[in-house]
Amino acid sequence: MLHVNLIIAKDPAEVGKLAADIFQDIVNAKPDCVLGLATGSTPLPLYRELIEREKAGKINFSQVRSANLDEYKGLSGDHPQSYRYFMQENLFNHISIDPANTIVPDGLAEDADAMCAAYERKIEAMGGVDIQLLGIGHDGHIGFNEPCDHFPVTTHEVELEEITREANKRFFNSIDEVPTAAYTMGIGTVMAARKVLLLATGKDKAEIVKQSFFGPVTPMVPASILQFHGNVTVIVDEAAASLIK
Ligand code: GLP
Repeated sequence: MLHVNLIIAKDPAEVGKLAADIFQDIVNAKPDCVLGLATGSTPLPLYRELIEREKAGKINFSQVRSANLDEYKGLSGDHPQSYRYFMQENLFNHISIDPANTIVPDGLAEDADAMCAAYERKIEAMGGVDIQLLGIGHDGHIGFNEPCDHFPVTTHEVELEEITREANKRFFNSIDEVPTAAYTMGIGTVMAARKVLLLATGKDKAEIVKQSFFGPVTPMVPASILQFHGNVTVIVDEAAASLIK
């Protein structure tokens, strides 16, 4: 039996619309809800949709709070490839959310452990995440939780796998500029969210979607743990669903 609610959409634009419907319902029901947000190219149609919907008066972000999944170690928030910058450019600058109510791990933290512990406390103080948005890496990583021999629980520093650096180098001038480490919410942080929404689009995600939701739960495929979360929706486009029978 499949333990997640799986929705197959036509294309990335439709994935964005269906995901926006879920966000809209949550924000309308709880105007000061906490959104767990993600970067990458997959959530972009969703973010564009949310911007349009606020302009159209269908959703209001003025009281919403947010906590992002991850950040590159060593990049400041005004570095164009930092995830803080990504969020400002692709969402926050275009909606009514108060920047003071948005948190992203601090890539320049001098004391990494203290920053990570403080990040967990900040999420707790917000009352926990109402909906955690996720993309998925080709190796099954969620946030930057890479395949390993266990499921890391809380926000922590992680060395990035070469496959991940390669996948993300398209945003940098060269592979040498891609940071080798990052900070990410832990698998436990993600699993504590009241609802999880994972999006995957494109043929190159088909194999990992199959492994994550139709294979064994293993820390070697970090996203597979979501099979144990009681409230997960996975929205994929037809290309990403192509290996699912
Ligand atoms: C990065 C991010 C992940 C994201 C993944 C997939 O590594 N840390 O949060 O899910 O990339 O990105 P994309 O959506 O561009 O395929």
